[in-house]
Amino acid sequence: SVLIIDFGSQVTQLIARRVRETGVFCEIVPFQKAEEGFERLKPKGVIFSGGPDSVTRDGSPRAPQAVFDSGVPILAICYGQQTMCLQLGGTVEGGHAAEFGRADVEILKASPLFEGIWEVGRKYPVWMSHGDRVTRAPEGFEVIGVSPHAPFAICVNEEKRYYTTMFHPEVVHTPDGGRLLSNFVHKIVGLKSDWSMAAYRAEMVQKIRDQVGDKRVICALSGGVDSSVAALLIHEAVGDQLTCILVDHGLMRKNEANEVVAMFREHYNLHLIHVDAVDRFVGELEGVADPETKRKIIGRLFIETFEDEAKKLGGADFLGQGTLYPDVIESVSFSGGPSVTIKSHHNVGGLPERMNMQLVEPLRELFKDEVRVLGKELGLPDSFIGRHPFPGPGLAIRCPGGVTKEKLDILREADAIYLDEIRKNGLYDVIWQAFAVLLPVQTVGVMGDGRTYEYVCALRAVTSVDGMTADFYHYDMNFLGKAATRIINEVRGINRVVYDVTSKPPGTIEWE
Ligand code: XMP
Repeated sequence: SVLIIDFGSQVTQLIARRVRETGVFCEIVPFQKAEEGFERLKPKGVIFSGGPDSVTRDGSPRAPQAVFDSGVPILAICYGQQTMCLQLGGTVEGGHAAEFGRADVEILKASPLFEGIWEVGRKYPVWMSHGDRVTRAPEGFEVIGVSPHAPFAICVNEEKRYYTTMFHPEVVHTPDGGRLLSNFVHKIVGLKSDWSMAAYRAEMVQKIRDQVGDKRVICALSGGVDSSVAALLIHEAVGDQLTCILVDHGLMRKNEANEVVAMFREHYNLHLIHVDAVDRFVGELEGVADPETKRKIIGRLFIETFEDEAKKLGGADFLGQGTLYPDVIESVSFSGGPSVTIKSHHNVGGLPERMNMQLVEPLRELFKDEVRVLGKELGLPDSFIGRHPFPGPGLAIRCPGGVTKEKLDILREADAIYLDEIRKNGLYDVIWQAFAVLLPVQTVGVMGDGRTYEYVCALRAVTSVDGMTADFYHYDMNFLGKAATRIINEVRGINRVVYDVTSKPPGTIEWE
C-alpha cells in the first residue's frame, strides 16, 4: 500500500484518488498522526502532500524521521518537497516571486518518474502553487526539471528513491500528473494494480463493523445516490442493526417515494420506515412564499419528523450519512471564512448532537463519480445511479410564490411529462439537471372555443460538471414545442410554457 501524509493541502484527496485510479490501495493520514499511521500500515511507498504552511515558520509541520529511516521510496509534493529538503539538510527560503498556476517544466535528465511520459530537452505543462522555494538541495539530490520561476521544480535522489516536485501532479491542470503518480506507484514503489471498488467495499464494511459493533444505526434515506449508497454499505456491514427512515414530505417527484421504498425493501431487504409526513409539511408550507423561510420550515420539520421516528424505535447510537469528500473540504476550508449564504442547503445538521449520536460516514473519502461506481458495485441499477440531482426541499422551491397542495400537484404532473420527453429523446444523460417550475402567474389562453386563465410553467435544463457553474441546455425547438404541447394538453391548470435560458452565474440552477 501507499501512505499519503497530509500537510493540509486542499487537494490531498486528489492524490488518493489518482493512486486509487491506478489500482493501488492508499490511505491518507494527517501529519500529526503520520508516525503512528506509518507503523500501522507498513506502506511500501509514501507521498507527502502540499500544505498551506511555510516550512520557514517555527513549529510548522515536519515528516516523521521514521519514514526516512525506513528506506521506502518517497514522492514529496510542494510543501512536502520543502519539508523534505529542509529535513535532509537543504535550505528553503520564503518571499520569492511566487509561482501560481500554469508553468512549463523543462526536463533535464531521464528518470523512472517520467519513463514513457516525458522526454529530456522538452517542456511540459504543470500546475504550481507555492510562495516558498528550495534554494539548496540536500546532499545526494539532483535537479532534473526546471521552470522559469522554479529552479528546483523536480529534484530527486534516485539512489534513495526520493522524488520531489514543486508542482502538483494530482490536479487536472497537470495533464500528465496521473501518469507520473502511476509511475511512482508501479515502477518506483513496485506495487501491482490489485485494488478496486470491490476492495474498497470490503474494507469499508469491515471499518463500519469495527466502529458500530453491536449497536444500532439509523439513516435518513432520501432516494438520492449518496444516501442510498451509504445505507447499502452500512446494511451490508451490520444488517438489521440498521434502520432507514424515508421522510415523505410530499415534495418529491411523481411516484418517487414509492419507487425508492419498493427498491430498498424488495431488492435489498433493508429495514425501511416510510413516514407519511405529507400533511405535516404541506400544511405548514401552505401559502409560504419566501424561499429561505421554506427551507427553514422544511429543515426543521425534517429533523422533528426524523427524531420522532427515531424515538419510536428506541433511539440509536449512530447516524449514518452519505457525506462526500467535497462536503468535507467545503466545510473545513470555508468554516469561519467570510462566505455569504446564497441558499441554506438543508441537511440533517444538528441531529447528531441533539440525539447524542455518533456519525458513520463511509463515503467521506470519495468523489461523486466514485460513489456512482461503488453504487454499481453494490448492485444499484444504472437508471438509479445516473439520476439528476434533486434538492432536499424538493418541489417547494420550484413553486415560487405561495406553496399550495394544488400547485404542487400541478407541478408534479408537468415535471413528469417533461422528464418523460427528455428520456424518450435520449437526452437525460446529456443534461445535468432538468425540471419544471410552476410560476405564480396566470395568463390568458384559448382552448377549443373557450378562454382559459391558468398558470405558466417554466422549463429548465442545464449542463454542468459540479453544479457550481452551469449553462442552459440548447434544445432543438421541436423538442421544446412537443414538450410544451404535451404539458398544456395533459395537465389541467397550465396553459403556457416558457423555457429558461439563464446560465449560472448569474442565475442559480433552481429558481429559489
Ligand atoms: P443552485 O440553485 O444553488 O443549485 O444553483 C445547485 C445545486 O444544488 C441543488 N440545491 C439544493 N440541494 N438543498 C439541496 O439539497 C437545497 O436547499 C438546494 N438548493 C439547491 C440544486 O438542485 C442544484 O443541483
